[in-house]
Amino acid sequence: MMIGKKVQDTRVRTGIPGMDDLLEGGFIRNSTVLLRGKAGSGKTIFGLQYLLYGALHDEPGILLSIEETKKDLYRESLRFGWNLEFLERQGKLAILEKHTQYSITIHEIEKAALRIGAKRVVVDSIPALFSSYPNELQPSEHRSAFHLLCQVLTDSCDCTVILISETDWSERLFYEEYVPKGVIELSTKMMEGIARKFLLIKKMREVRHSKREHLYEITDNGFTLFIPRTKYGRE
Ligand SMILES: Nc1ncnc2c1ncn2[C@@H]1O[C@H](COP(=O)(O)OP(=O)(O)O)[C@@H](O)[C@H]1O
Ligand SMILES: [Mg+2]
Repeated sequence: MMIGKKVQDTRVRTGIPGMDDLLEGGFIRNSTVLLRGKAGSGKTIFGLQYLLYGALHDEPGILLSIEETKKDLYRESLRFGWNLEFLERQGKLAILEKHTQYSITIHEIEKAALRIGAKRVVVDSIPALFSSYPNELQPSEHRSAFHLLCQVLTDSCDCTVILISETDWSERLFYEEYVPKGVIELSTKMMEGIARKFLLIKKMREVRHSKREHLYEITDNGFTLFIPRTKYGRE
């Protein structure tokens, strides 16, 4: 596919083999993209791969990990040959672990973004972040907290953001789909007795993106899409 240079310059490469071709070159700079799917669908791996690509290409990143501890992430990532600890020491990655106070988290993200000159952020995950609040939030408070988070990460931190969410949780909170520029959905289907994994770009404002479901796989190399050699279609 031919892509104008101008369009490509404004795009942030995902680091997921096959993905950028479906998005005219990648995510729009300083946008937020919601990535959702059920447990085990590969959301964390997708997020880590996005940050790893940035770390190796002059775009440091922050992982706000509320679901998993840094220690577990270090260990799990070595399986893919990703040395997160080393990247952190080099200032190309910052992993912020679970916190109970939202305000501290925002402040810490801003501090970390400034310290490493972050260009990318992954929040893993939105439901875990919100349920870590000391008091349960009302729906309207959820909405403004979500808005604020998106704004802080894209505007004051100057980053391109992946927000990880859970399929079941998202269905209850419709605004979660409207605020981000894009929504990517991961799902599993049983086909001839084998569980197959599919990725769908449900929306991506301002982008002429693929509308198809694309098969993906998680291997020892991480998250990879299967793109047929023929046209993938833009219907
Ligand atoms: N080395 C590997 N080879 C193949 N599949 C793997 C490997 N490591 C993890 N997986 C798959 O990835 C899934 C976990 O991915 P993860 O990103 O943690 O999911 P999520 O964050 O959506 O819960 C596991 O359920 C497993 O199917
Ligand atoms: Mg996860």
